[in-house]
Amino acid sequence: MKRGSLVWGGTLLIMTTAMAAAADRDAVERGKKALLGKCYAPPTMTRRAYEEIWKQWGLKEKPVPADYDRLFRQRYGLHEAPYPNDGLPMGLRPAPFLFGLGKGISMDCMVCHGGSIAGRSYVGLGNSTLDYQAFYEEMSAADGREPRTPFRFCNVRGTNEAGSMAVFLLGFREPNLDRRLKRLDLDLHDDLCEDVPAWWLLKKKKTMYHTGGADARSVRSLMQFMMSPLNSADDIKRAEADFKDIRAYLLSLTPPKYPLPIDRTLAAKGEELFRAHCARCHGTYGENWTYPNKIVPIDQIGTDRRRFDGITRKFGDYYAKSWFNEDYPIRETAGYQAPPLDGIWATAPYFHNGSAPTVYHVLNSQARPKRFTRSYRTDLDAYDAEKLGWKIDVLTDAPDPRQLPPIEYRKIYDTTQPGRGNGGHTYGDKLSEEERMAVIEYLKTL
Ligand code: HEC
Ligand code: HEC
Repeated sequence: MKRGSLVWGGTLLIMTTAMAAAADRDAVERGKKALLGKCYAPPTMTRRAYEEIWKQWGLKEKPVPADYDRLFRQRYGLHEAPYPNDGLPMGLRPAPFLFGLGKGISMDCMVCHGGSIAGRSYVGLGNSTLDYQAFYEEMSAADGREPRTPFRFCNVRGTNEAGSMAVFLLGFREPNLDRRLKRLDLDLHDDLCEDVPAWWLLKKKKTMYHTGGADARSVRSLMQFMMSPLNSADDIKRAEADFKDIRAYLLSLTPPKYPLPIDRTLAAKGEELFRAHCARCHGTYGENWTYPNKIVPIDQIGTDRRRFDGITRKFGDYYAKSWFNEDYPIRETAGYQAPPLDGIWATAPYFHNGSAPTVYHVLNSQARPKRFTRSYRTDLDAYDAEKLGWKIDVLTDAPDPRQLPPIEYRKIYDTTQPGRGNGGHTYGDKLSEEERMAVIEYLKTL
């Protein structure tokens, strides 16, 4: 009898665990379908603008169709969609206008959270090539609107002002998300120069965003990009169940594997060094991984403080009163969160502001270039497999913004400019060059 109930209990436990796993898998599938197939904001651009935008490129003739989509992606730093998207790159979403007014284009998360590396596109790889400013201005012009953004969307190519967008958009909302006509100034700073974290790291995190200011379990926090003026409070709130699934999908993502040969002996040496010098902040890897979720005070980490200072208490206090804060509240933190380093080879450039083009530069603060540019291509030819990151050209002179078209000026990462400082994180400086290369070899395996 006793034995029977034990067996029954065991079977029941196995059954409920299996059912829970199946429910999780269903949520992941639903989330994937929602994120890659549904549209969460009405279109704001016409498909005609996509077809006509080449006139903004200084060309006399339209490129042939076989080249057009690729040239479009290259100009703005967008990536081919690895899912059906009607010929549009990741981040743009085909969407009809209401009342049969024709084909439109809406934007989605993948404009920033879809990237490519070594010739393949990945949902969840931060987009490190995007020029959101050029894209927005030229699409507006192609649609016959003023080619202007209400604040800077991008200061340097590959970074964006996502934080400022949230500050701007929340200013048009009451705490219950009803729209307001007059914008509240919640301390908008548009020079944070943010690098986009990879989504596959979210599953390890207890807190998210560069400062660790939000609870990683929050679904509502992910919905801030639904604050398009065309969405009502109800439109946003109705999407919460979908976003719960979308979050489940994000948690299921895994990093791409390093595609080139790895020296396993050197990597094993690197692992020891990593455990001694890095693991206390970045955790350990493999089956029994650990992640301490450490937030390092700003003066101690010493990286650029603009992102830390630039989203202020004024925004935080208003956000804290809003619908977004009701599932898991935000909190003020002391600095930047040390991220997990899974798939780190694929996510150059580094630091929250993308100021270090390779892992080598992360680990040798003296070697960090003051001004540099890169091809902004993402194939293996553009990749530096030794230093682990992007190949760069170091510039000796300060560029003159008046001498260059803005789209070219934004290709120059100038670390003397606001939000772009490249100091701090000196933990790799004490390693010898050999040790540093061993740590880099180990990082390729993560
Ligand atoms: C304009 C670019 C942009 C868009 C669009 C965007 N994000 Fe982000 N996202 C970012 C940046 C930049 C960060 C880092 C923000 C910070 O810490 O200040 C981020 C952070 C995140 C994080 C936290 C990651 C971490 O590990 O800390 C999640 C999750 C996320 N975004 C989900 C989404 C979802 C879901 C959407 C669409 C509804 C979306 N994002 C749209 C740029 C964007
Ligand atoms: C005291 C804690 C601490 C130690 C020790 C430490 N780091 Fe970090 N690390 C951080 C923090 C915090 C950041 C984020 C800084 C920022 O974005 O401004 C970071 C960022 C990084 C990044 C860039 C991550 C990205 O996605 O942009 C890499 C790579 C890295 N660390 C590697 C290492 C290695 C290798 C070591 C050991 C030699 C090490 N770190 C030691 C705290 C630490």
